[in-house]
Amino acid sequence: MKVCIVGASGKLGRYMVDHALNRSYEVVGVCREQSVGKLDAFKGRITIFRGPTNNREVIKKAVADCDGVLTVLVPWGRSQYATGTAQAVLDLARPGARLIFSCGWHISRDGLDKFSSTLKWQERAARWIGFLTRLIDIDDQIEACRRVFASETRWTVVRGSDLEEGESQGLPVWSRHVGDPILKSNITRRIDFALFMVEALKNDDLIHEAPAIVGCQTPSALARAATRQR
Ligand SMILES: NC(=O)c1ccc[n+]([C@@H]2O[C@H](COP(=O)([O-])OP(=O)(O)OC[C@H]3O[C@@H](n4cnc5c(N)ncnc54)[C@H](OP(=O)(O)O)[C@@H]3O)[C@@H](O)[C@H]2O)c1
Repeated sequence: MKVCIVGASGKLGRYMVDHALNRSYEVVGVCREQSVGKLDAFKGRITIFRGPTNNREVIKKAVADCDGVLTVLVPWGRSQYATGTAQAVLDLARPGARLIFSCGWHISRDGLDKFSSTLKWQERAARWIGFLTRLIDIDDQIEACRRVFASETRWTVVRGSDLEEGESQGLPVWSRHVGDPILKSNITRRIDFALFMVEALKNDDLIHEAPAIVGCQTPSALARAATRQR
């Protein structure tokens, strides 16, 4: 299995590199020139393509011959960075490749998610802060995911809850819709978000799904497991 990790130098990206190497996958990473040093721990074990993740020439070379592409979609800047990244991967990955994208719960595939007032408030605040500072563009990440949802590629969009650091607790559980009580705890270890992304490469049940995930050891996940055992 050869996989490309687009956005490999970030926190999520580095966890994904680690999980992929642990499975003996051949790993290719794309990261910005100034961030190459963040991948020093993997020197000699992965191939790095340097450049912005929305650079089509870089993506074209990086995803060539890859069976899977794991893409960190980030709403940085005001120049359609997330959309450009997603579109490049959708257009240039080899036909039939498994494509896994990361985002947050704020993305909705079918409009049936039930967001808490806190989540709605956080999204509104992020949109305004992004607009005023020009640092982030939530609507760009939404557009990037809309394009993925509309594509006929073999995609999965993994929607992360709030994140925390710490040792792995195991594969997160998921639901199709935010608002499902199983997700109530709204916390996932970042290392396990990465685990879910990498495991999704081989889980065809997740093709054309947008799972909203939560840690498997959180109270809401454990409560659901206990109900099922009764
Ligand atoms: N943070 C959360 O609480 C949270 C919650 C739910 C879902 N998520 C999702 O999880 C994924 C990873 O997010 P994360 O917050 O954990 O961050 P992360 O893993 O550290 O990744 C951040 C990414 O953004 C890149 N980046 C940083 N500044 C940039 C800039 N100015 N221009 C272009 N790229 C830039 C980083 O590249 P460099 O290494 O080159 O800087 C890295 O690839 C995202 O898809 C996010 O939507 C995050």
